[in-house]
This record gives sequence, C-alpha cells and structure tokens, in this order.
Amino acid sequence: MVQASAPGKCILFGEHAVVYGQPAVAVAIDQRMNVNLELNSDWRIDGMTFQPERHPHVEALKQRLWDGGPPLSIKITGDIPPASGLGSSAALSVAASAALRCSRGRQLKDDDWAEGYTAARPNNVYDGPWDVEKGDTVEYGAEAVDVDECAILTHAVEAYAQGGRASPMDSSTCAHGGCIVLSDKVEEGLNWLYSRKLNDVSWEVHSVDLSKTDDVWLVIGSTGIHAPTSEQVAKVASLLDTNPAKMTEIETIGIVARRGISALLKGDMESVGRAMSENHLLLRSLGVSCPELESLISAAAPTSLGVKLTGAGGGGCMIALTRDPKTTSEAIELAGGRTLISKLGAAGMTVDSDQGAPLWDPHE
Ligand code: MEV
Repeated sequence: MVQASAPGKCILFGEHAVVYGQPAVAVAIDQRMNVNLELNSDWRIDGMTFQPERHPHVEALKQRLWDGGPPLSIKITGDIPPASGLGSSAALSVAASAALRCSRGRQLKDDDWAEGYTAARPNNVYDGPWDVEKGDTVEYGAEAVDVDECAILTHAVEAYAQGGRASPMDSSTCAHGGCIVLSDKVEEGLNWLYSRKLNDVSWEVHSVDLSKTDDVWLVIGSTGIHAPTSEQVAKVASLLDTNPAKMTEIETIGIVARRGISALLKGDMESVGRAMSENHLLLRSLGVSCPELESLISAAAPTSLGVKLTGAGGGGCMIALTRDPKTTSEAIELAGGRTLISKLGAAGMTVDSDQGAPLWDPHE
C-alpha cells in the first residue's frame, strides 16, 4: 500500500488584493488529507466505482500520471472540511500526486532531464511515455517523489477543475508546508522559490521562516456558509469598476501584508495580530465580510492578538491568532461557529508508506 498526505492552508494576509498583484501570505495548517493507493481489479474511490466527473482533481492526475496503468483502489481520508477555503482540494491533489508518482517511479535521463518534471521546464508537466535509453536510471517509491512536481501538478489540476483560473497559493502551500508568500515581484528578504505562470498571469513564490512564531495558535471558525470564491472575486471587481477609489484599499492591504511579513520574520506576534485585524477592516470595506463572519470575529477578538476573515469571504471561515486557543475556540463556538485549532506552518507533503511500490512499472 502506498500512502501520502498533505496539509490544508489558510490565508493570513492579502486575499483579494493578490488578484491585483499585491503580496499574499498563507500558512499550512495541522489538518491534512491522506491518500491511500492499492492495486485492485477495477477503479474504486472510497469503495465506490470511480466516477471521473465527481472527482475532477483525481481524474486529471490519473490522466497525467497513470495513463494506461492498472486499476487502483483509492482511499481518501482527512480532517479538512471541504469547500471551506482551507485548501482541501489542493491538499488532496498534492497527496494524490505524491502517491501516484511514488507508485509508478520516475525515470531520470543522464543529462539531468527527469520524467514528469524538471526545473528546466517549470511550466510543463510531461506526461507521455518515455523510452528507456542506455544510461537512464529509474527511482522507485518515496525517492521518486518531488515536492515541486506535486506543487506544479496540483496547480495544473486546480486550474483544470476551476475552468482555467487558479493561483499557485494553495498548491504551493499544501505541497511545501510552512508559510508561503505570493507576489507579482520578487520580495526582498524572503526565500524566493520559483516563478509560476498560468495563461498571462505570473507569480513569484517565496517561503518565510516561521521559526520565531512559537506559543501562538490559529483558531479557525467556520460560518458553515458556502460562498463560491468566483462570486466574491467578481463582487470586488465590480466594486472597483464603479468606485475606482477603492483601489486604495487593495494597495493598503499590500502594505499591511508586507508589515505582517516582517513581523512574522521577527516573531513579533502582537504586530502580526494587529496587521491581521487591520487587513480584516480593509476586506470589510471591500464588501466581502458578512454578518455571520462579523459575529464570530467579535466573539474571538477579546482573547486574540488578531482576527480576520480568511479566503474569499462572504461566508466560509475566519481566523483568530491567539495564545489561548481553548478560550478563543469556546467563544467562537458559543457564537455559532465550528472551530479547528492549528499551529502556524505545518509540515508539507509527506510519503507515509511506499510499501510494495512500484504498483506499476511503465519503464519495464
Ligand atoms: C481565495 O482563497 C483567495 C482570493 O484572493 C482569490 C484568489 O486569490 O484567487 C479571494
């Protein structure tokens, strides 16, 4: 059995403004998705017949990594609530790409080209069969898995499932873990990882060292309201159209996010919290909060360093940065929210078992 897992994510700073090129910051959370693969006589997902239209992310990965391979039984478990802005589909896709790559191995050419992914081709995933030549080597099991490839594949399948639009925020955070900053330019003082491009948009992806952020937790409060991201993004776009002065809010979110990043680097969590609350006021002024979010935010504020909505808004989740997660969580629950508690910056993708790999050896 092959098993891999990946964390969910939440956005600390910069949602919506990132659509206009401002920096955004996300952290990986303790809640994860696990994917388990076993050979089977037919395609199954959680014991049921696999229906591609019900699992577009898995189907897109199957086409890229398992074309012509034997049928699998796929088991998906995890504690990230779906459709809540916490990256459940990206975490699932990262874990599934790791498990599939682990299950088929990877061929390496002696001139530094690798099947499926190479740094020389950052925007492409090669998915055709390779001819094994003299000098080629093949890696099997966990060794064949590459975190960048999982991030690239996940970005590609998220774009496929979302009709061509997806930023690499979720895919990079769920693959690499820790804390990820996206911007339209390379940000000084951060660890630049790579550029990502989709259609005409490009992003610079960085990681941030969170080693100085001990003793604080995130309490995530869900309103239980499902508000599609596309609607909230369209709402902000039409607001900016009718009221161009609101671009000041977008630019100020960028300034606040940069202040939040330098506070994170210093481990100054009081300032991180203040910046989060300020970010929320700006989001509210863009019209993406709602009474239910405001009520959870007011309930959490007295015991928190900072509070804000996270993700697209209009429903979905809020987050509270706190040193007293139990009390903050109780306050949110009393106000009608469902809570999850997490540290900041969980570990990224892991291969938890590669027993029996490869399950399919296309190189033979
Ligand atoms: C949604 O999680 C984040 C938004 O900024 C949309 C996006 O970045 O694509 C609202």
